[in-house]
Amino acid sequence: MSKALVLHRTGGPDAFSWEDVSVAAPGPGQVRLRQTAVGVNFLDTLFRRGVIPLPPSKIIGWEGVGVVEAIGPEVADLKAGDRVTYVSPPEGAYAEARLLPARDAVVLPPHLSDEQGAAGYLKGLTAQYLLRQTYRVKRGDRILIHAAAGGVGLMVCQWAKALGATVIGTVSSHAKAELARRNGCDHAIVYTQEDAAKRIAAITDGRGVDVVYDSVGKETFAASTASLAPHGVLVMFGGASGPVSAEQFNKVPYDRYVIRTTLQSYTGTRADLLTTANDFFAAVADGTVKIPVGKVLPLRDAGQAHHELETRQSTGAFVLAV
Ligand SMILES: NC(=O)c1ccc[n+]([C@@H]2O[C@H](COP(=O)([O-])OP(=O)(O)OC[C@H]3O[C@@H](n4cnc5c(N)ncnc54)[C@H](OP(=O)(O)O)[C@@H]3O)[C@@H](O)[C@H]2O)c1
Repeated sequence: MSKALVLHRTGGPDAFSWEDVSVAAPGPGQVRLRQTAVGVNFLDTLFRRGVIPLPPSKIIGWEGVGVVEAIGPEVADLKAGDRVTYVSPPEGAYAEARLLPARDAVVLPPHLSDEQGAAGYLKGLTAQYLLRQTYRVKRGDRILIHAAAGGVGLMVCQWAKALGATVIGTVSSHAKAELARRNGCDHAIVYTQEDAAKRIAAITDGRGVDVVYDSVGKETFAASTASLAPHGVLVMFGGASGPVSAEQFNKVPYDRYVIRTTLQSYTGTRADLLTTANDFFAAVADGTVKIPVGKVLPLRDAGQAHHELETRQSTGAFVLAV
């Protein structure tokens, strides 16, 4: 027996129930993992609230770090004792132990601690595909990242700055603006108090930015499209404030381009996953990206992490210690 946070119903941060669960022996292509740290992602709050249907196990969470306890048949490249990290949709991470498809597990390099792995892996892979694959940021580009002090946002700021971009970020408070600046953001705009589009026009001498990375959605879409230079690209990768409507999309000028994408588009094959993961690990190893570990809480207090994420109090990335 081990413990897990189970959701018998959707609801608020108090909907989790801390329970004994049994974890079976691994089947074909699976490993059994004894987890040491679990990552929290904004996406998890959407499952808990029922915006996205709960997975069959009623245990949410896509990301964690742990030690392989047992391997099932047909698992070739992992062995008991390996320390691995993973992103594995759509379920199962908020638990002390779990079964995991071996194809999702990647050995965690020794230069990353368990906490860094759980805080940074999903968000770091996201920063990697946004900056290095969806729109390849070049020296001299001007980029806009919303929620710049969040888990993904802080890594995007650091990495884009290292690539030679001018980084403009939006955040909801002056404290978050200061943190974003310390992580490579050249211009941090408090979008709850200032007209972001106007500020960006002033910063870019009216030209606009080459790319916007927007995970806020409904509330930022108008400012995002208004801030694009001609032939600029808006990359939509989330909707923390709600989904963008068809009416909003129809107003986008024809010489501004919108891409809607997600991490799984870049990790569909094992080869693509390893390419993306190794580039992220290398960026951490050479100091380009420092993983912004925020608060570390016990796994059973995941509800508190959700509350702080949803009420926009958090910065960096939560870790749930097991
Ligand atoms: N598609 C993908 O591949 C992918 C992968 C990872 C993450 N994501 C998305 O990227 C975003 C960042 O993820 P994260 O886990 O690192 O979270 P996060 O950025 O640490 O937290 C979300 C942030 O969104 C901002 N926000 C704006 N409006 C909000 C609202 N109405 N309610 C709550 N927050 C709001 C807040 O920053 P301010 O207070 O500064 O506004 C908040 O801190 C999320 O939208 C997530 O779903 C997408």
